[in-house]
Amino acid sequence: MKKLDDITLDKSSDEFLYIQLYNNIKNLIVEKNIEPHTKLPTIRYLSKRLDVNNVTIVNAYNLLEQKGYVYKKVGSGTFVQDIFKDDNFSYKKLSIVEKEANVSDINREKIDIINFASTSPTPNLFPVEDIKTVLNEVLDRDGGKAFTYQESQGYYPLRNAIRGYLDEHNINTTEDNIQIISGAQQGIDILSKALVEYGDIVFTESPTYTGALAVFKSRSARIIEISIQEDGIDIKDLENKLRTFNPKFIYVVPNFQNPTGCSYSIEKKYELLSLAKKHNFYIIEDDYLSDLSFNDEKNETLKSIDTEDRVVYIKSFSKILMPGLRLAFMVIPTAIYNDVLSAKHISDISTSGLIQRAFDLYLRKGDWKKNLQRVNYIYKERFNIMIKSIKQYIPKDISYKLPNGGLSFWFSLPIEYSSNDLYEFCKKNNVIIAPGSAFNVDQSDNENFRLSISSLEYNVIEDGIKKMGSLLTQFLNEYKNKKNTIDIYNPFL
Ligand SMILES: Cc1ncc(COP(=O)(O)O)c(C=O)c1O
Repeated sequence: MKKLDDITLDKSSDEFLYIQLYNNIKNLIVEKNIEPHTKLPTIRYLSKRLDVNNVTIVNAYNLLEQKGYVYKKVGSGTFVQDIFKDDNFSYKKLSIVEKEANVSDINREKIDIINFASTSPTPNLFPVEDIKTVLNEVLDRDGGKAFTYQESQGYYPLRNAIRGYLDEHNINTTEDNIQIISGAQQGIDILSKALVEYGDIVFTESPTYTGALAVFKSRSARIIEISIQEDGIDIKDLENKLRTFNPKFIYVVPNFQNPTGCSYSIEKKYELLSLAKKHNFYIIEDDYLSDLSFNDEKNETLKSIDTEDRVVYIKSFSKILMPGLRLAFMVIPTAIYNDVLSAKHISDISTSGLIQRAFDLYLRKGDWKKNLQRVNYIYKERFNIMIKSIKQYIPKDISYKLPNGGLSFWFSLPIEYSSNDLYEFCKKNNVIIAPGSAFNVDQSDNENFRLSISSLEYNVIEDGIKKMGSLLTQFLNEYKNKKNTIDIYNPFL
């Protein structure tokens, strides 16, 4: 019979060490080689015995806890869960899925609403222990200083660490051009405060991120939409509209666009930059996901190829770290720097100094990169099962173009159908989707809808798409030629 002491890790394998350890312990538990409620070895003991970093053990134990294989008792340690007892989870139901995948999640039988609308990550992706460690270190190091007003532009050491991060992503800038913000949403808002006056013209992609449309509307801007194609913005449409309109800026999401998931070709990125120079407008680049590429394609940011200082680059950590940190940053062209700084000060004086200090440590320790690898790994598993399930279960009358990464998938019903109707129909059947009307200025009904995998754990995706497939078949038979309006503001975060 295998025991905990028999566990070994293969350091030459491509598989992360913590995943190897997780799988080893999980197998011992499900094969009943460890009794329920047995205490697992301490982190220090196991890291020494396996000759790995403490973090590897912590991450493996966390994953085991998130998936329900172990539980923690404060001050006592980590213990094996009695997984065969019904009120924990039904192992029998999950075993097939578990065999298919390295990373899977439990509790699917407890989930009765399948939420394909949300783009918010599941909490099991959050590196809570690492953040706890850096928060404690900051409190020990800085004491009360961590709670004073922070300078509006942002904590200098964090801006310095971000400059280093940007260097690695081929964006050369200075600490002076970096503005810390409380989330990308705030970035869009303060840029609008700084640049847009009543009636000013703003260009956006169509469809686009609802939260950005809401900001531009709140500034009473005149929003002109430019259509999106599979390889990015429609340059002809843009050129045509530039003959009539003189925009303050264009707001774009060039990599894994929200909601369509499409990315701009490199040619379109250059064409957009050159039009911005010719017609003298700024580009707001919202980079909320470029890190999540699941093939070898390079996702250059516009900012990395911007030689004219025309791109305002906004980077959010919400989808790849934790939305609740409310932390993001912008790289601001020198010409508008003062206006943006003053708009930030008017909005909230500064982003939380404590969170900035903790994040600074987190970046400097390299924990950031480890976490990004982990999140990438998990999202990639979800992404691949999503693609497989779409090909298998989505009816052929529904059209779509599969993205190369990111978290959103965009579908179109045949033209005579309404995605608002589909939204209502799915909702009645406990599936939530994001209808296309959420992503255009006038919120008019159309045939498109978005499904996102951020909020769904691995196990749920296949079942969810299978259910979606049969709902779509039923919908296509019953709902032709209806039109519906839904009067809600929902940014589908
Ligand atoms: C394209 C896009 N930009 C910005 C945001 C908001 O990001 P944050 O949480 O950093 O404010 C979202 C949230 O879904 C988004 O989809």
